[in-house]
Amino acid sequence: MPVDIVVGGQAGDEGKGKIAAYLAVKNNYDYSIRVGGPNAGHTIFFKDRIYALKTIPGAFVSRRTKLVLGAGTYIITDWLEKEIALTGVENRLIIDPHAVIIEQRHTGAERADARLMGKIGSVGTGLGAAVRDRVDRKKLRFAKDEPRLKRYVKDVPELLNKALAKGSRMLLEGTQGMKLSMLHGEYPFVTSRDTTASTFMGEAGLGPKYAGEVYAIFKPYVTRVGPGMVAKEVKDKKTLSRYHTQGREVGSVSGRLRRVGEFEMDVARRAVSINSATRLAVTHIDLLEGADVSRGIKSFTGEAKKFLATLEKVCAVYPYPKVELISYGPGLFDVLDLK
Ligand code: IMP
Ligand code: MG
Repeated sequence: MPVDIVVGGQAGDEGKGKIAAYLAVKNNYDYSIRVGGPNAGHTIFFKDRIYALKTIPGAFVSRRTKLVLGAGTYIITDWLEKEIALTGVENRLIIDPHAVIIEQRHTGAERADARLMGKIGSVGTGLGAAVRDRVDRKKLRFAKDEPRLKRYVKDVPELLNKALAKGSRMLLEGTQGMKLSMLHGEYPFVTSRDTTASTFMGEAGLGPKYAGEVYAIFKPYVTRVGPGMVAKEVKDKKTLSRYHTQGREVGSVSGRLRRVGEFEMDVARRAVSINSATRLAVTHIDLLEGADVSRGIKSFTGEAKKFLATLEKVCAVYPYPKVELISYGPGLFDVLDLK
């Protein structure tokens, strides 16, 4: 089926952006679609540059892929304009007229909400406030009302569905992850949206029939930038500091040091099940002992081998996903592709 989907299997920051970028180069998708808000960041190391993005999909690295922001996207116009300039994608960006503009009053309201910022640990981009206004049917600015974005605005569902009829292939890049889903996550320590594959399809204007491979992305450990559950949290300062430095486990939007915990098997199983994941991608394997791939050795020993064996237990349960990609460094092509 023509629409592959990338979702987070944990608490966000699993490396969806990098995996999406890798898949885009490999599969040369006609379109890459992103939904969600700018509270979620993804970082792509490509051609000696580091792209820290919030809204432009990771698939921008594939030059012929058109980039689409669906109706379920929330945009901070200043930030998006900067990303457009940085990535040079002005001629291949398409925005749904009903993507919502996050206004300063939204960001202001969220940052002034002590409970949200404190107890929930909101990133404070104003996404939640904009979602709330939409639910309340208050007056909002949409992409179609924003003169600076007008040139990109097109009927996305019509465009994508026509393209599907002609055989186009697409990649849908989701945001955040299982534990942060407003529906299926660890409420109240969740974001203001659902973060699973079916919702991403709906937010893009695509029906479920077109879903292709669903990639659930995992790290061998769990991180969280805010409060909420982290089973078996790492407290040892030296170990933590290795995650924060070598593993770059610092919030790309929030700037906060991420909390780190051991891999959570039950969360992984739920993520596979709720997303009907058919493929697994592992990132940050290089943080485990036994994953030294620096000299082109692509076999794993020790902790890394043990972790991959643990993951096999996830694959042994319906819908029997397969481990396809193992990422061992930040670079776009630091990926062991098992397919
Ligand atoms: P909000 O979505 O900014 O209100 O944040 C709600 C919770 O989700 C907080 O604990 C945030 O730290 C967390 N969160 C939101 N977006 C991300 C993300 O992209 N990665 C990791 N955590 C996130
Ligand atoms: Mg992130």
